[in-house]
Amino acid sequence: MDDGALRPTSLAEYVGQRRLKEKLGVFLEAARARREALDHVLLYGPPGLGKTTLAHIIAAELGVGLRVTSGPAIEKPGDLAAILTNALEEGDVLFIDEIHRLGRVAEEHLYPAMEDYKIDIVLGQGPAARTIRLDLPRFTLVGATTRPGLITGPMRSRFGIIEHLEYYADEELAEGVARDARLLGVALEPGAALEIGRRARGTMRIAKRLLRRVRDFAEVAGEDGVGLDRARAALDELGVDAAGLDRRDRAILRAVVERFAGGPVGSDTLATSVGEDRATLEEVHEPFLIQRGLLQRTPRGRVATARAYAHLGLPTPGTLRFDEEVPR
Ligand code: ADE
Repeated sequence: MDDGALRPTSLAEYVGQRRLKEKLGVFLEAARARREALDHVLLYGPPGLGKTTLAHIIAAELGVGLRVTSGPAIEKPGDLAAILTNALEEGDVLFIDEIHRLGRVAEEHLYPAMEDYKIDIVLGQGPAARTIRLDLPRFTLVGATTRPGLITGPMRSRFGIIEHLEYYADEELAEGVARDARLLGVALEPGAALEIGRRARGTMRIAKRLLRRVRDFAEVAGEDGVGLDRARAALDELGVDAAGLDRRDRAILRAVVERFAGGPVGSDTLATSVGEDRATLEEVHEPFLIQRGLLQRTPRGRVATARAYAHLGLPTPGTLRFDEEVPR
């Protein structure tokens, strides 16, 4: 079964993100009552928190069709025109993932589409070129981005609903995992679900992935269900530690501490040093390490915190100094 098959199709089934769900529930109900298309929605936040899933839910709750595309897939204005004129019916949802990567020209063509449900199409080239304006069905654009800072002002101002997705609490991740386990027919003990939740770094996609891998270990060991001990052993085997750091996270922290004396170190240097691309470092690893108080972003670069030293089982420089100052 792929991820799509396990996706919730209603807001009620969607775990966590309580504030966002409450607001969205109101906006959906109001749009339905007025028989209007929902205002355009911009969802932003770290990867894996369920932005795509929410787009599916929005379409399902409105009882309309969904078209899925992404910023990088729309290279030319013609690509956008093709989607808007061929693929959409009245009220449909168009989901554009990674909308910050939409080309500038395509973006400008999107403005009249969002505002007036019209698109300008250029026919021919050079002096003989003509522009025709086509009417589009009323639609709802749901844009998703991990980099809200890269959305231009004019683009942002055309969204009526702008919402941030938060990292999930461990218990919410456990609830999401328990739901998937039920759908997969896996007997998952509550303690095992919580252990997976604790180690999933606040991210639903990771929790769901860990569940599948833990299930693999349990099945190969010939066990019917998944208990806490099996979950712990499997997660250790996967290199996910008790705080949810994976091997990459630990390599990054270790590099800051051991190669750059705890920092500050610039993100380009750090990325090169651990063989990671800068975007993954900045968008995936750093937000989590910062959120857990293991790393700080300062104007001069990344700095490891005392907690990072403790996590790696290393003495903190602060403690060493303290010991020197206060000899006993
Ligand atoms: N899949 C992705 N995000 C989810 C969530 N918040 N709840 C349940 N399933 C999900």
